[in-house]
Amino acid sequence: MGSHPVLTMQNISSLLLYPFEKENLEWPEKQESVLIFGAGYIDVFSNIQNITPVSPFKMQAESWSRAGYDPQCEVEDRHAYDFALCHITQQKEAAKGQIATCLKALKKNGILVVIAANDAGGGRIQKWMDEIGLKTGSLSKNKCRIVWASQESVREDILKEWDSYNKNVEITIGEEKFYTRPGIYGWNKTDKGSELLIQNLPENLSGRAADFGCGYGYLSMQILKGADHDIQKLYAIDADNRALQAAQKNLKEYEVEYLWQDLRKAPENMKPLDFIIMNPPFHAGKQTDSDIGLDFIKSAYVALKNRGTLYMVANAHLPYEDVLKNTFKDVIKVVEKYSFKVFEAQK
Ligand SMILES: C[S@@+](CC[C@H](N)C(=O)[O-])C[C@H]1O[C@@H](n2cnc3c(N)ncnc32)[C@H](O)[C@@H]1O
Repeated sequence: MGSHPVLTMQNISSLLLYPFEKENLEWPEKQESVLIFGAGYIDVFSNIQNITPVSPFKMQAESWSRAGYDPQCEVEDRHAYDFALCHITQQKEAAKGQIATCLKALKKNGILVVIAANDAGGGRIQKWMDEIGLKTGSLSKNKCRIVWASQESVREDILKEWDSYNKNVEITIGEEKFYTRPGIYGWNKTDKGSELLIQNLPENLSGRAADFGCGYGYLSMQILKGADHDIQKLYAIDADNRALQAAQKNLKEYEVEYLWQDLRKAPENMKPLDFIIMNPPFHAGKQTDSDIGLDFIKSAYVALKNRGTLYMVANAHLPYEDVLKNTFKDVIKVVEKYSFKVFEAQK
């Protein structure tokens, strides 16, 4: 049986250079500018001189910072780059938004290279590029599709439509309005688990608090507007900068501190907290990765003060109960419903 390397974010990123290695494209010259969007740093990128890395994800941005670059969260420039290399996200509108961003950022006749794993939408890239008027070349490797095209003959009407997916939009969920944006976790709905957590929180939460993995701010909003709660300080923390920006709009009436952080590590320089609410992520790309949730639990433990409480919801099948019990002093399973479990864990 043939074997494929495990598709980590890293080796998908490295395949952005595959059309250059296979000589389908000529390597960027020293003076040519290269935008790398949605990918973390890997050593092969050091073969290119003039790179601008952009990613809204803290982990990717940190990998560039460690390598001595100055990563940005958003692509600001127009007609500035000779090449744009882009690892698109799985969410359809967000991926089209990324392609539009790159096309707008390229100089006339600049080269766009787009990659996605086949099980994260790789198969549809070529069709999209055709739709927007580009003449493409493509390669497949390691269950990924890599598609490239010169930025000529773009259909402006479709470019405009796809670019609109890059903006915050106001959506109505139940009776509430939220700003959100394609690509943010669960961008056009509320998470059933988060709803269950809110229904099962105590009525008189108080003190210094944090929302770990706040997304566009659904959980934060619910506790801040709860009349019986007395929240003195709230940190809304997420690794996705787009989520933080949306949360900032949604929670503008309240005093909240926003932190762009990778919560696989405990936040530093934060005074110990009275409580944390969280619905941790359990996906790294396509793969279920319960390790992220386990790291979130450990970070929450570190961030809480003694006798502080973690209120957490997770899919019932994920292996969090033992870790909670081995880490925290008292752990109660508050409810198990709709294939979710809500826990209250006291340090
Ligand atoms: C399941 S969603 C919950 C979102 C929101 N709290 C809600 O209830 O709708 C998990 C959130 O964790 C964020 N996230 C994923 N990995 C992260 C990491 N390593 N550090 C911080 N946040 C992360 C995601 O961007 C996402 O917003």
